[in-house]
Amino acid sequence: MYKSIAVGSPKSSRIMNLYLVAEETRRTPEHVKDESALDAAFKDPGFKAEPAELSSVTDRGIWLGVGAAKELDTDRMRSVGSRVVKRLSRIDLKSVKIDLDCLPKKNRDEEALGRAFAEGLGIGNWRMDMFNGAASRKKDARGKLTVSCDSSDFRRGMTSGLMLAEAMNLTRRMAATPPNICTPSHVATTARMLARGSEGLSCTVITYQQARRLGMGGLENVGKGSANKPCMVILDWKPSKPRTKEKLALVGKSITYDTGGYSMKSPAGMKGMKYDKNGGMAVLGAMKAISDAKLPIRVFGVLPAAENMVSSDAYRPDDIIRMYNDITVEVTNTDAEGRLVLADALAYTCRKLKPTAIIDIATLTGGVVVALGHFCAGYWCENGSFGKRIEQAAVHSDEKVWKMPLWEAHRDFMRSEHADLLNSNPKRSAHPIQGAAFLSHFVDADIPWGHIDIAGTSALDSGNDVFPAGPTGWGVRLMFDLAESYLGKT
Ligand code: BES
Ligand code: ZN
Ligand code: ZN
Repeated sequence: MYKSIAVGSPKSSRIMNLYLVAEETRRTPEHVKDESALDAAFKDPGFKAEPAELSSVTDRGIWLGVGAAKELDTDRMRSVGSRVVKRLSRIDLKSVKIDLDCLPKKNRDEEALGRAFAEGLGIGNWRMDMFNGAASRKKDARGKLTVSCDSSDFRRGMTSGLMLAEAMNLTRRMAATPPNICTPSHVATTARMLARGSEGLSCTVITYQQARRLGMGGLENVGKGSANKPCMVILDWKPSKPRTKEKLALVGKSITYDTGGYSMKSPAGMKGMKYDKNGGMAVLGAMKAISDAKLPIRVFGVLPAAENMVSSDAYRPDDIIRMYNDITVEVTNTDAEGRLVLADALAYTCRKLKPTAIIDIATLTGGVVVALGHFCAGYWCENGSFGKRIEQAAVHSDEKVWKMPLWEAHRDFMRSEHADLLNSNPKRSAHPIQGAAFLSHFVDADIPWGHIDIAGTSALDSGNDVFPAGPTGWGVRLMFDLAESYLGKT
């Protein structure tokens, strides 16, 4: 592991060449610029250029396999970056120049490949050791790794990739922070610190008392059973010279722990519920990336933060509560708490921040994990052009989404006999859609709105090519790309 990674100049001395090589270039080297380097690569006995395979170190440099050239896309580059960074640090390399001359040149988007490779480096270089104590073996971090490349497109891509990985790692660190430390007020403190470090980014916090006075019955009721009282964090990125009139709002569920409340979860279902704040933590990371990149578009980040606990003050099934927009809700299940805090956040965002588009992101339902697993997030959006924009951002970022339906029949399914709405219909069906349908009642009809359920993607039970088991920072890249899409780049 390195202390830090940065993009440097390809001209610096004592630099190690790192040649990227595809498997089939050995047989068809005609598209390759530097054939002698290619020959040298395959002289290394056993080197097959498999993804993330490293050759031995030679005078000329090292070869790094990327697998089959026809499969070389951003997903592959990200996984190669994530897997190779640990090995580079083990052989103690300090400065490498990525050489693309041994790759087929056809149709390659070097900026996109550079970004994905550097995202991988940054993701793979992160580990969760903040809570290692006296009984842990110390693994010292190496110094700094400098990466460069002759291609300015690839270099530009790497700069944004490293920046995005840092933002994702903030999200992952917050997500992994346990609930005895990461309380709603800890979320607020972290957001304030983020804003303090970035000109143009400001942070206001609606306290528990203020939320009560404002009539935010959702946030109040979900959070009041805990000694760690709820709050709502509002980040505002105001660029000095906006290039568009659009104002995007990102709203993230930030339940710092979800016991289920009186509709209590089973022990197996409760374990891991520190990750129930991951939507909000992804918003935090996206706001960091957007402000670090100084994107010339106004963006709000809204984090309703609460802990869902039991106590004599906690809300209970059968309670009827009044929300920020005066809609009343019959609580049938205290474990359907995310939609209650999000509903207040969405209604507040529409009324006070007046965005031109809203996206909310939440670990909202176990049902979406059953339906889609960890392969993609579920998304809902009934506005054609905004839905397309979300899908394009998902493709661009490789954070995949799958569209789910939201019809009038679903919205009606949430109506209550004794109040305006139910927070969950006791007829247990279509839970992920119920969540979206409930939320839709709290968004102004004339504001394009999308909802993303990341219960399956925001943390992994077992690792994959890019991430170890644990939080993934899912959504940071998608929301960044969504904001950037208004600037005509994506
Ligand atoms: N935080 C959970 C959803 C969840 C489940 C996230 C598994 C990650 C992994 C949410 O608050 C919840 O409990 N939802 C209920 C809703 C139901 C009571 C209507 C669910 O999905 O069972
Ligand atoms: Zn719950
Ligand atoms: Zn929850």
